[in-house]
Amino acid sequence: MYYPDETIEEIRSRTDIVAFISSYIDLKRRGANYVGRCPFHSEKTPSFSVNPSRQMYHCFGCGTGGNVFTFAMEYDNLTFPEAVQMLAKRCGVSLPEAEESEESRKQDSIKKRVLDIQNDAGVFYYSVLKSDKDRAGYRYFTGRGLTDDTIRKFGLGYSGKTGGLYRYLKGKGYSDSELNMSGLFSFDERKGARDKFWNRVMFPIMDVNNRVIAFGGRVMGDALPKYLNSPETVVFDKSRNLYGLNYAKKSRSKYFILCEGYMDVIMLHQAGFECACASLGTALTQLQANLIKRYVNQVIISYDSDDAGTKASLRAIPILKNAGLSVKVLDMSPYKDPDEFIKNLGVDEYRNRIDNAENSFYFEISVLERNYDFSDPEQKTVFFNETARRLLVFEDELERSNYTEAIAAKYNIRTDQLKNLVAKQSANIAGIPVSSGKYKRNANDKKEDGIGQAQALLLSWMAGEPGIIEKIKDIISTEDFFEEPYRRLAKLIFSQYENEGTVVPAKILNNFQNAEEQTVVANILSRNIPDDKRDMNEKEKVLNEIVKRIRKQSIDRMTRNVTKLEELQNLMIMRADLQKLHISLQDG
Ligand code: GTP
Ligand code: MN
Repeated sequence: MYYPDETIEEIRSRTDIVAFISSYIDLKRRGANYVGRCPFHSEKTPSFSVNPSRQMYHCFGCGTGGNVFTFAMEYDNLTFPEAVQMLAKRCGVSLPEAEESEESRKQDSIKKRVLDIQNDAGVFYYSVLKSDKDRAGYRYFTGRGLTDDTIRKFGLGYSGKTGGLYRYLKGKGYSDSELNMSGLFSFDERKGARDKFWNRVMFPIMDVNNRVIAFGGRVMGDALPKYLNSPETVVFDKSRNLYGLNYAKKSRSKYFILCEGYMDVIMLHQAGFECACASLGTALTQLQANLIKRYVNQVIISYDSDDAGTKASLRAIPILKNAGLSVKVLDMSPYKDPDEFIKNLGVDEYRNRIDNAENSFYFEISVLERNYDFSDPEQKTVFFNETARRLLVFEDELERSNYTEAIAAKYNIRTDQLKNLVAKQSANIAGIPVSSGKYKRNANDKKEDGIGQAQALLLSWMAGEPGIIEKIKDIISTEDFFEEPYRRLAKLIFSQYENEGTVVPAKILNNFQNAEEQTVVANILSRNIPDDKRDMNEKEKVLNEIVKRIRKQSIDRMTRNVTKLEELQNLMIMRADLQKLHISLQDG
């Protein structure tokens, strides 16, 4: 944290979230909240909600949420300190001069040094590639068909058999603590510093501004791990970068080709497809999808054609769509990836496959189809029902009808039959909002089990109506929340309540400084709590239920870990007492 907590809180509390967000998007009052169309995913019906009393926003469609800082970070792609600076200016809070300039100058200069290290390392690896005596790295790349131009364009290198980067960078005057932060070395008390990359061909990872921020290194044979990547550092946030984006953004293409690996991107660029980029082995994140949306409206997924690649495509599709991108999926069979495909069938055939890439919906349905045996009438029926259910994702009447017709034609059934199934499915799930929430953000994706839900609800309740903390604080404690981020949140809520006599949900969020974390936490704190004052009995019942549930789960967990009989007996008593527990909301 570069600014004092009080300053951050002052800026937050002086910035009314409704007024602030209204300066970006249209909000309309609905009950106690304000709603509008979510700026972070494309939607027709508004599911973006701003809660003035909690001073937080939350989108029921894509699951994003947070306080004013989160919004600024996400909307304008700012870092936390940048968001603080921007809002400070807006609400007229002057940032502590000395502290800001000193602390943030220090931070800036650390970042700058780490970037310099990455750059110098890139230069080093590149020169080793060219100068190394047996030219192992260079032969590897040319052996895979890369030209000198391509090697230069991507700054490919070789880490050499003897390492040597550490000595090279020490010679340039970097300190051990700077080198430690670069992620390129492992430091050991006895053995000292050692190069992390050794005898690997090196792929510098560049950000959109062409700065080297990290490296990937590949073994030249079959050893494992095949690829080693830099860890996250002050300059490398995996979830916010795409390999090749620095070139793809300049390609003036209307679409990006999204692939899995370094070599795919490089081969595609060499073949003239300069709009290729890669998510690099990790699952595509919403931030990456949003980043793509800044440059193009369409993505053609060219992930590996094996099972893992198919699964990765199915996961990426909703995330990309969520960012407002239209998505197609390219069929690379019988080859595994773009690199192999182009080597075997050539550039023209790849272009041909791009032209014939299927809309992602057909791709999803054809993957689904593999699970059913069409010679069995029953399975066939289930398949069509499932297909009908999926057709409901199209909100637009005409669009849905077009897809229904196309699918019916593809599978040789009558359009009106499929339309009937769609209508039936739509009736089945009436009451569940289909229009919003069809695609969940990945932050939200992890299925929450029942106990997670109960904990989230209680935390949201405690934050939204701190009065109940008084009622439960002798029964429930931080220890009952046994998983993160629930535990950390519980701790923050209890301690804020203790110190200040109240809880400000948006202030709790100040403690989480990256947007992903803030979103996850905001999501927990945005649960609808039973706030109907007229039905106190109902409310009391719900509170008792969730408190008992959380407590019981916590006792059961402890039971599993006890070693002494006496402790076990105590826990049994606690568990029995829980039955008798009743929290009353009516008396003072
Ligand atoms: P080549 O064999 O060089 O053609 O690699 P590829 O690009 O076809 O790689 P693959 O499809 O196996 O994997 C795709 C991407 O996942 C790679 O570019 C890496 O970014 C990442 N990856 C693959 N293997 C590993 C690994 O062992 N460890 C890590 N951390 N990442 C890997
Ligand atoms: Mn490959």
